[in-house]
Amino acid sequence: MRRTVVTMPGDGIGKVVLPQALRVLEAVGFEANYVHADIGWDCWTHEGNPLPDRTVQLLKEHKLGLFGAITSKPKREAEAELAPQLRGQGFTYFSPIVAMRQLFDLDICIRPCRTFPGNPLNFVRRQPGGGFEEPFVDAVVFRQNTEGLYSGIEWLDPPPPVRAALASHAKFKPFVNIPGEDLAVGCRVITRAGAFRIALAAFRYARKHGYGSVTVCEKPNVLRDTSGMMEDEARKARESYPEIDLRFTNIDAQMMWLTKDPEKYGVLVASNLFGDILSDAFAGLVGGLGFACSGNVGAEVAVFEPTHGSAPKYEHLDPPIVNPIAMILSAAMLLDHVGENARANAIRDAVAAVVKEGKVRTYDMLRMPGGAEAIKRGAATTTQLTDAILQHLRVPVLA
Ligand code: NAI
Ligand code: MG
Repeated sequence: MRRTVVTMPGDGIGKVVLPQALRVLEAVGFEANYVHADIGWDCWTHEGNPLPDRTVQLLKEHKLGLFGAITSKPKREAEAELAPQLRGQGFTYFSPIVAMRQLFDLDICIRPCRTFPGNPLNFVRRQPGGGFEEPFVDAVVFRQNTEGLYSGIEWLDPPPPVRAALASHAKFKPFVNIPGEDLAVGCRVITRAGAFRIALAAFRYARKHGYGSVTVCEKPNVLRDTSGMMEDEARKARESYPEIDLRFTNIDAQMMWLTKDPEKYGVLVASNLFGDILSDAFAGLVGGLGFACSGNVGAEVAVFEPTHGSAPKYEHLDPPIVNPIAMILSAAMLLDHVGENARANAIRDAVAAVVKEGKVRTYDMLRMPGGAEAIKRGAATTTQLTDAILQHLRVPVLA
């Protein structure tokens, strides 16, 4: 069966890196059709909708997406950039990637953070007697992707029924007389089903890929009901996976521990915001945003994307300088998702070989400031880095 992948470059460097991933997918012999879909800032400013219906329809039909990045701006700035004829008509900006996750119930977010040996950005640890060691980090963050503090249920100046409901809670007493315009409230929504599904997905992955532990990173001592539910459901999910350790850490302490001994963690689970933070922190130990890939997986639809944004300051550089690896590794995750594991591994092996060889490196890997000068200082261009990956690619011979 020839698959169709909906490609959504989006904004800024999303338009730079996505075509690089397509070069690699083609070179590795993945047979697919690609259909372009609009998303992002231009759609907002010209149509008042950053996630147009035509894009939603394409995802509904083909169920597989590859996404670059979008530009988001705060409410007022977003409204100011709306085309004049669209202003004052009740259009409100929302993040199309968050909307896509919710619309298609892409509730499982997978963010692998693995060391590529030889990457100068890898975390190192000072040894007591002098010298350094470079622990091998192999952590996979499972972030609940549709609930939590990103549920979108927020009010500035909560309406009377909401205020009344809040006032029914004893802990609201200190806030009861705060004027509406001085009060913003957001809801941290956790459902039992959502908490169970993310934990179960984590255990399944741990067993399939041979990880010994699943660590739930929450804050149940303070967020008793919401984090408490995340932990309870993880205990239930573990019942079918007795060989895998279930550990619990507090998210704040976890952020400290992970820079101490990151190699001790395997699969990690967290609610939406905590998982977002946790995965960026782990990504920082294995090369940063230029290496951070992810998958948003639902029961029917799955969309793969680098976790970085649109980096608008680099969007117009010619030649482009940004690192395409996060995008290329996201494409490899797409291959895993459709059962093309040999091709996915071939891509990761080629990336590993290029990183290890160290001859072709974008500015981030050289710890240079970004900008056009990076190329003059010896950084590779985006295209050159992809070229190197293609040169190292060993296309698997499949029966
Ligand atoms: P960003 O991820 O675009 O950039 C942060 C820093 O990392 C910048 O210094 C950038 O130059 C660098 N960087 C990012 N990707 C890189 C790559 N592939 N290679 C080398 N360096 C890279 O985040 P920022 O600046 O906070 O946001 C820019 C825009 O992107 C905003 O409008 C934001 O809302 C949006 N954004 C979108 C996301 C998405 O589409 N999923 C995620 C995060 C931010
Ligand atoms: Mg993030």
